[in-house]
Formats: sequence, structure tokens, C-alpha cells
Amino acid sequence: MNNHDLLAFDPSYCRANSPTIIRNFTRDDVPAILAIERDTFEYPWTVQEFDFCMSLDRCGCLVAEREGDVVGYVVYERRNRTARLLSVAVLDTERRSGVGSALLRELAALVGASLSEIVGVVRERNVVAQVFLRSVGFRAKWIKRKYYSAADEDAYRMTWSLADAENYDPVVARRAG
Ligand SMILES: CC(C)(COP(=O)(O)OP(=O)(O)OC[C@H]1O[C@@H](n2cnc3c(N)ncnc32)[C@H](O)[C@@H]1OP(=O)(O)O)[C@@H](O)C(=O)NCCC(=O)NCCS
Repeated sequence: MNNHDLLAFDPSYCRANSPTIIRNFTRDDVPAILAIERDTFEYPWTVQEFDFCMSLDRCGCLVAEREGDVVGYVVYERRNRTARLLSVAVLDTERRSGVGSALLRELAALVGASLSEIVGVVRERNVVAQVFLRSVGFRAKWIKRKYYSAADEDAYRMTWSLADAENYDPVVARRAG
């Protein structure tokens, strides 16, 4: 890994014993990213879809690395003043140790100077993702009725205002929430 790829590492993000690095993805990370996709989602991205997305200037991907392994990632797209989450996932054995939060906080730090919010659209039934996003600072703003039409399922559009993110303290927010 080159030093310029190291975006930031604040050990307080993660509680696991091994240090976690958040950095921009490289081509070498793609098999590991897509393996997590396949283990996680019913309709995972193919390598072609991922490559196409990454060929667009407005899209990007951060990965979380522990002991040399990719353990999570976030794929995002910049649109107007918003960053949209296209995919976020953490290796199932590494969940609940702060990796997902670290990825989103790093994304906020990366885009916060130029964008005003990060938006995620979450399935109504994905309660873990809703609780996760809320813990980071997102709030549900709209319900998108029948967004997943095949499953006859609504979605929540959740927004994290980056103006709020600057002084965000998850512990205080959770107590308040
Ligand atoms: C959602 C996901 C990315 C969270 O990643 P993670 O690294 O486990 O999240 P964190 O450890 O940073 O969790 C932060 C907080 O989110 C909440 N949270 C995360 N997972 C949770 C769970 N299974 N049950 C309840 N709350 C949960 C908790 O408030 C947690 O804080 P705590 O551990 O101090 O209680 C991960 O569960 C995942 O990959 N899920 C499948 C993919 C998915 O649903 N992606 C959509 C995400 S928008």
C-alpha cells in the first residue's frame, strides 16, 4: 500500500484488536470486494458492473483493511451536492466491530468539503442497516413506497447531513436518539 492511499486511520473508530485502515480501493481489491458482495446480497454486482461504475468519475470506493485483508467496503456516487451509497458491506466475521462506521465516517471526511449530505436507500426489512445508519448519524427522511417492486417492499431514504457530521459524537447521539 502506498502512503498516499492511506486516507486516515483513527483507532478509536474500531474496537477490534487489529488495526483497521480505510483507503481508496485498487484493482487488486476487486475479487475480495465482490466476494463480500456475493456473500451478502441476493443480487450481487458482477465484475463488469463494478468496473463500469468505477470507470465513472462520479463514483468511488473505499475499503477497510485488517491485517492485509479487505474486510469491508463502501461504493458511492457523487450527484449534485449529495453522495449516494451504492453498496456498503462488511465481512460477516468482522461485523459489529466498528468497520462499517469507520467506512462511512471516512467517506464523510472525504466528501464533506464539497458535498452537503450522504444518502442511503434501505429496504424496509433491513432493520440492521437502518439501525446502523442511524447510529452513524443518518435519519430517515422519506418512505419510497414499493421501491423494491419485485418483493412488494418499501424503502427508507436515509440522509446524513454533513453539516451535522462535523461535531458528531455517536455516543451522545445514541443517548439522545
Ligand atoms: C450494515 C453493516 C454494513 C454494518 O457494519 P458493521 O461493521 O457491523 O457496523 P458497526 O460495527 O460500525 O456498527 C455500528 C452500530 O450499528 C448498529 N448495528 C450494527 N449491526 C447491528 C446489528 N446486527 N444489530 C443491531 N445493531 C447493529 C449498532 O448500533 C452498532 O453500534 P454498537 O455495536 O456500538 O451497538 C453490516 O451489518 C453489513 O455488511 N450488513 C449487510 C449489508 C447491508 O445490509 N448493507 C446495507 C448497509 S446500509
